[in-house]
Amino acid sequence: MRATLSPLRDRAEGVAPAPFKAAMRRFASGVTVVTSRSGASVNGMTATAVCSVSADPPLALVVVNRASASHALIVKGQAFALNILAEGQEGLATYFAGGDAKTFEAAPHAVGETGCPLLLGCAAHVECVVENDYDEGTHTIFVGRAIHVSSADLAPLIYCDADFQSLQRV
Ligand SMILES: Cc1cc2nc3c(=O)[nH]c(=O)nc-3n(C[C@H](O)[C@H](O)[C@H](O)COP(=O)(O)O)c2cc1C
Repeated sequence: MRATLSPLRDRAEGVAPAPFKAAMRRFASGVTVVTSRSGASVNGMTATAVCSVSADPPLALVVVNRASASHALIVKGQAFALNILAEGQEGLATYFAGGDAKTFEAAPHAVGETGCPLLLGCAAHVECVVENDYDEGTHTIFVGRAIHVSSADLAPLIYCDADFQSLQRV
């Protein structure tokens, strides 16, 4: 797929991180907590680098920093669940973005078919089994096949300009 002869590929390093981040902050997205499990270990991390890949087969991807604890669990467990947050769940997004060890004690949840926690009150859940993974830069793109989904008639939480927002304010 790569156009190896393109002169643009010679613009080697690309732009600096700061203007890149400033531009990408203008990209509004939903917010997920990506949960994972391997044996008795469970974890959750807030992630916005998530999207649908194809509907048939049903594939979704999440982009995960290799330095995160979640990365190791997804590699070991070969599964993840996308908990698509609803408006009003900013507290969960903030908690699961923290760097310390996290527990699910204060986060009401069920256990999904993959064993990954499914947070209650979400706009949707997408449980995936890892189908492929691709390392890019500091992150890994995990592509998962959805084996179980659910959705509710709730407005999704939005993230834009480094802030949590509602659809009305975007
Ligand atoms: C709004 C928001 C979106 C984020 N999106 C991602 C993401 O898509 N991928 C990622 O690797 N980290 C993302 N992070 C950072 C992780 O949530 C954070 O590094 C977390 O502490 C990782 O947890 P863990 O080390 O327990 O897995 C995001 C953080 C915030 C606040």
